[in-house]
Amino acid sequence: MYSITVVGTGYVGLVTGACLADFGNTVTCVDSDAGKVERMRALELPFFEPGLPEIVARNVQEGRLRFESDLKAVLKGSQVVFITVGTPPRSDGSADTSAIYAVAKTVAQTLDGYKLVVQKSTAPVGTARSLYAWIAKHAKRGAKFDVASNPEFLREGSAIETFMRPDRVVIGAESKKAAAVLRKIHDPLFLIETPMVVTSLESAELIKYASNCFLATKISFINEIANVCEALGADVQAVAKGMGMDRRIGSKFLHAGPGYGGSCFPKDTLALSAFARAAGVPAGIVDATVAANENQMKRMVGKIVSGMGRAARGSRVAVLGLSFKPDTDDLREAPALEIIAGLRRRGVRVRAFDPVAMPGAAALPALKGVTFAKDAYDCARGADAVAIVTEWNEFRNMNLRRLKRVMRRPVLCDLRNIYDPGEVEAAGMRHIGVGRGRAAVRAGARKPGRTQGRSRRRTA
Ligand code: UDX
Repeated sequence: MYSITVVGTGYVGLVTGACLADFGNTVTCVDSDAGKVERMRALELPFFEPGLPEIVARNVQEGRLRFESDLKAVLKGSQVVFITVGTPPRSDGSADTSAIYAVAKTVAQTLDGYKLVVQKSTAPVGTARSLYAWIAKHAKRGAKFDVASNPEFLREGSAIETFMRPDRVVIGAESKKAAAVLRKIHDPLFLIETPMVVTSLESAELIKYASNCFLATKISFINEIANVCEALGADVQAVAKGMGMDRRIGSKFLHAGPGYGGSCFPKDTLALSAFARAAGVPAGIVDATVAANENQMKRMVGKIVSGMGRAARGSRVAVLGLSFKPDTDDLREAPALEIIAGLRRRGVRVRAFDPVAMPGAAALPALKGVTFAKDAYDCARGADAVAIVTEWNEFRNMNLRRLKRVMRRPVLCDLRNIYDPGEVEAAGMRHIGVGRGRAAVRAGARKPGRTQGRSRRRTA
């Protein structure tokens, strides 16, 4: 077991710290924001993540996890330092890594025996190697340390599960000692046969970007196919199912929708594009993925407005779901924000509801003027269309007749394709999905028990 310092208590840092403590290590999570540290000591966590409060509470109570704000003091005696600070995008899309270097400088100045510095923040290829040189420059001559890269593949909303049962652990290390320490730290996962990839620093860093950009590309690809489906009368749900059965393609990340959001895909696609261009090898596929994603969000605005069948100005839209995906309160790059902005530019009045993200949303200047509802039905009252933007479970089984009763116009824009179009039409509502061509919807409506009240209205 190791004495570990985790610097930065954002998403990756706090989940990593809590889970490593749960493996039996002694972990100190450090954040420069003293107020945040105080709140975490009182077990008030800075974001919503299922299962995390319980793990944090257990490990704090059992003395394996603590929170501090004085990095220098904490570093003494710590054997492994994980750097998990933010790398926000600059205006040109490149990642701002200044926080990583600031932490590394403090580590360098306090080196007191061998330390392993693990770079876990998502940072451009080459960062870990340059950190080594940076630490050597700021440390006493002869100081003993290694730098390793250990990228994170956490998914918000299921972060504990993805940490405890990852598909793989990636270790970029160039000394036997560094690789051995990181293997040992991940030993509990090894016991459940998690495959590990031990490779060079650069390869480890690129695995993270290549994986996220590939997944983002998969999403943009299926969204593009969805648009083709709409034009040609096919159903993207069936197309994705048929594609996914080919094991070389796989069924995951083939859900057409309003476009991807969150703290990773938008940032990482831009960053890879920026560092590839700078290296003289423009990443055209990734650039197209980014453009298709922006276009998809804009397309959703047009879809909602044309679906209402009335002038946009003065109309009302109920937006269900604000977070970039369910089971998180994270609003970073959430498609809902783009879609709401687009609707409001066209004079639409927006009322919104989200099971957990509303307090955060209410504080956003961009959402000033949006009203917030107490539930989905309250949100839909008097609306000319309901748009489901995030597929929270509670939106999956709404009472459609009740929804229709409270609306001014019965239009359901199901931007996550969670409803059967025939079922929605049977409840007397117009259904507008993503990639659900008219012919496909008619075929769906022919299913036994789904024919009642079938309408010939156009769906898309
Ligand atoms: C992602 C990666 O999955 C994770 O490995 C990495 O470490 C961080 O980025 P996360 O951002 O938490 O995780 O969410 P994810 O579930 O991957 O979804 C990202 C976005 O893509 C969401 O907006 C989601 O709605 C969208 N998405 C996902 C789709 O539109 N269609 C899909 O098929 C899958």
